[in-house]
Amino acid sequence: MERPAWAPQGIDISVPSVSRMYDFYLGGSHNFEVDREAARKAMEFLPGLPKIMQANRAFMRRAVRYAVDSGIDQFLDIGSGIPTFGNVHEVAQAADPEAKVAYVDHDPVAVAHSQAVLEGNDRTVIAAADLRGPKEILANPEITGLLDLDRPVALLLVAVLHFVEDADDPRAAVADLREALAPGSLIVLTHASYEGIPLPEEEAAGTVGVYRNIRNPLIMRSREEIGQFFEGYEMVEPGLVSMPDWRPDTPQAPGQEDPYAFSGFAGVGRKA
Ligand SMILES: C[S@@+](CC[C@H](N)C(=O)[O-])C[C@H]1O[C@@H](n2cnc3c(N)ncnc32)[C@H](O)[C@@H]1O
Repeated sequence: MERPAWAPQGIDISVPSVSRMYDFYLGGSHNFEVDREAARKAMEFLPGLPKIMQANRAFMRRAVRYAVDSGIDQFLDIGSGIPTFGNVHEVAQAADPEAKVAYVDHDPVAVAHSQAVLEGNDRTVIAAADLRGPKEILANPEITGLLDLDRPVALLLVAVLHFVEDADDPRAAVADLREALAPGSLIVLTHASYEGIPLPEEEAAGTVGVYRNIRNPLIMRSREEIGQFFEGYEMVEPGLVSMPDWRPDTPQAPGQEDPYAFSGFAGVGRKA
């Protein structure tokens, strides 16, 4: 297989990558046939996956605007993925040109592509780091060189925690991050769940199997478990809800949205 310029040396492009599959669902062009094949297989079980991803991105943009409107001008986006249209820095800097965004991902493809997109934007950085090592993230010189962690930050954990297995203790990782943030900070989070999926759990579980096969297990959690990631923070209205129900730009007429968009949960919490 020919290696395009955007795919860094040293990564195996013969196995599917979660970030490239996600790029494919969103209509991006940074994916290979192996990624598309795995993504299509997942869609055999959950045909609404692209809808779910679009609802996730739309929520993320509304939440970033909400953060800027609340006076936040620093963003730490962990599990940021391959930048596609409408990234956090685009939304944040359109609303506040001074806004600073530190992206973090552990996937070399996502990091390499982010570097290319962010070149010349001195209010953004991309750090190669892992959510499972929160202390390293908080001490990463690229991040601390851009963000002042003594001031409020919006921490984005959007569609990433469902890739962290319980054995890796995502609750402890998020607790370390929550603890480190300054008062007034926000946590913006989405997470996959069987709750809300318009299919019986046995059918939707096929998707989980596809991700397990590519060694990136997708961990479905209950609304209650997802709510625990916000421990000690006050939930911003309307709380932990389906993605389209979090402060929609225009009031939704019932039944107008694709039912798949209501899979999983989204919420924003504030540190008092
Ligand atoms: C589905 S994408 C989400 C991208 C973006 N946050 C969004 O919602 O549009 C998940 C991203 O999380 C990254 N990821 C998964 N586990 C991670 C970890 N332990 N540390 C850092 N990034 C991780 C993957 O590489 C992938 O780019």
